[in-house]
Amino acid sequence: MIIVSGGIKGGVGKTLVATNLAVMSSLADRDVLLIDADDQESATDFTALRSERFGGDPGYTSIKLTGKAVRDQVLRLKDKYDDIIIDTGGRDTVSQRAALTVADILLVPFAPRSLDVWTFEHVEHLIEEMTPANPGLRAFAFINRADHQGSDNDEAAAFLQESDVLGFIPAYLGNRKAFATAVAEGLGVVEYKPKDKKAIHEVETLFRHLNEVTSVA
Ligand SMILES: Nc1ncnc2c1ncn2[C@@H]1O[C@H](COP(=O)(O)OP(=O)(O)OP(=O)(O)O)[C@@H](O)[C@H]1O
Ligand SMILES: [Mg+2]
Repeated sequence: MIIVSGGIKGGVGKTLVATNLAVMSSLADRDVLLIDADDQESATDFTALRSERFGGDPGYTSIKLTGKAVRDQVLRLKDKYDDIIIDTGGRDTVSQRAALTVADILLVPFAPRSLDVWTFEHVEHLIEEMTPANPGLRAFAFINRADHQGSDNDEAAAFLQESDVLGFIPAYLGNRKAFATAVAEGLGVVEYKPKDKKAIHEVETLFRHLNEVTSVA
């Protein structure tokens, strides 16, 4: 399965999700390739931290690619891995478009508080533009940095569910210190100690939904 963690907005949790998925998939004994297609190289930094911590073995293979090479290399490598997870930058880039020509799934995190209609429509347009090149591409939105209270999550979910272009995955990752601390230490939240059971449950729910979505492909 080839999953792109993308969108057009910075700082919404794309790298957090890509790295957590890579960790969970590798812990499930799958052969995982994490592609860093963001020139900021945050996924690469994550893997470096992780390699140091685990004696040189992060548990998955990691490469950094830019532009059209993202497509070319994925086409070469896709049969060699169970899962390819691609982290993209916070803009509409050539690298992300190249990834979307070969991906099965585009996963787009949205923060309930900063969800704006303009951004969402731009993501819808991006997907519509990529569909002729990759008719099998399926895109899903989900909520990251969900609030612990108030009505913003529900309002954002209601808005996201209206889209004809993106499906909605009803998995909410809360705004939790464990997510931020774990990723800053090169760990998936499932590995981080002390365990944050709620965070683990949330990320496992997202993972389960993704597996369900991909198994009916
Ligand atoms: N659910 C969450 N709870 C707490 N902190 C979070 C959560 N999601 C993301 N963050 C924090 O927010 C910051 C931005 O997240 P991240 O780097 O994953 O976003 P991004 O979309 O990859 O950003 P960029 O567009 O710069 O690549 C990071 O410091 C991350 O740890
Ligand atoms: Mg990032």
